[in-house]
Amino acid sequence: MSLDEQPALAASDIACWFPLPQSWLDRAVFGKPSRMVKAVDGISFAIPRGTTFAIVGESGCGKSTVARMVVGLQDPTRGTFDFAAGRGRKGRLRTQMIFQDPFASLNPRWRVGDIIAEPIRELGLCEDTRETVRRMHGLLDTVGLGSRDAGRYPHEFSGGQRQRISIARALAAEPEFLVCDEPTSALDVSVQAQILNLLADLQSDLGLTYLFISHNLSAVRHVSDRVAVMYLGRIVEEAPADEIFDRPRHPYTKFLLGSVPNLLHPDRERIPVAVDLPSPISPPPGCTYHPRCPLASDLCRAGAPEASRLGATTIRCHHAREIHLS
Ligand SMILES: Nc1ncnc2c1ncn2[C@@H]1O[C@H](COP(=O)(O)OP(=O)(O)OP(=O)(O)O)[C@@H](O)[C@H]1O
Ligand SMILES: [Mg+2]
Repeated sequence: MSLDEQPALAASDIACWFPLPQSWLDRAVFGKPSRMVKAVDGISFAIPRGTTFAIVGESGCGKSTVARMVVGLQDPTRGTFDFAAGRGRKGRLRTQMIFQDPFASLNPRWRVGDIIAEPIRELGLCEDTRETVRRMHGLLDTVGLGSRDAGRYPHEFSGGQRQRISIARALAAEPEFLVCDEPTSALDVSVQAQILNLLADLQSDLGLTYLFISHNLSAVRHVSDRVAVMYLGRIVEEAPADEIFDRPRHPYTKFLLGSVPNLLHPDRERIPVAVDLPSPISPPPGCTYHPRCPLASDLCRAGAPEASRLGATTIRCHHAREIHLS
């Protein structure tokens, strides 16, 4: 496989389980086995270079855990991540993360110039101080801020400008891959579009690859090439963005899109939520979606479904064939 064909990232059978805190008595005296939160439970995906791969799903389904593993903030319990060989110096350095709350991720006591210059210095990316300052000013310009902003502190900026600062800081490390976990959800609606446009411009200018996580489905549709729908730690459907939104196949994807009023299809009927989201500590047996699923049958209660292909879509559903024919 040539370097160009190689995906920027291939994830194979990734799981991340967290042990639940257990009392000393339960562990030492009663010898109870520790229980696990299966935050991510066996997911695989590949992200072609220069494209955007989105993960959507309800709160707690494991999106941020995937993001944290991709940038190396969390080790997987099982599975492997393969990053394409590139100009980066170390696997982790090639990926950078943009967080939901830019204020929390920026040191409030540092001037913006120092915040942006730090990765350049840490990684030794510039020859000397003059070059570092020039690069830092260039990054401010790239994200739509000015050179004079270098001397100001994070609290002097609006939420959108702070997110621009985080993006400049992420770019300072010369990443090939950006993980954006709810990058606009703390921002005003009008500002959200500006940040999404900035991310899109950076992708086309710098050839960046994105893993994009958002609750905002219209933003996901706007920016993504492919979308994976997660439910209780697993991917239940993955397809090109237009397929997901125009022809959702998995009953959960249909529910997820139907449960968002007015954004995409205001005329679409809303499907009521039958059951609360089950816990990843004791997920239902079989297909974990079966307690909420209108198609659930004995088959669904008995075993987890394998992946099946319907055109460009991959779904995990025992009733994939009927869905395809309907
Ligand atoms: N460090 C941890 N220790 C124990 N449990 C964790 C830890 N991190 C995440 N979890 C659990 O793993 C599950 C997935 O969490 P995660 O933050 O990945 O969800 P999410 O999809 O990002 O949700 P949201 O949309 O609310 O951000 C949740 O049940 C969460 O409580
Ligand atoms: Mg999250």
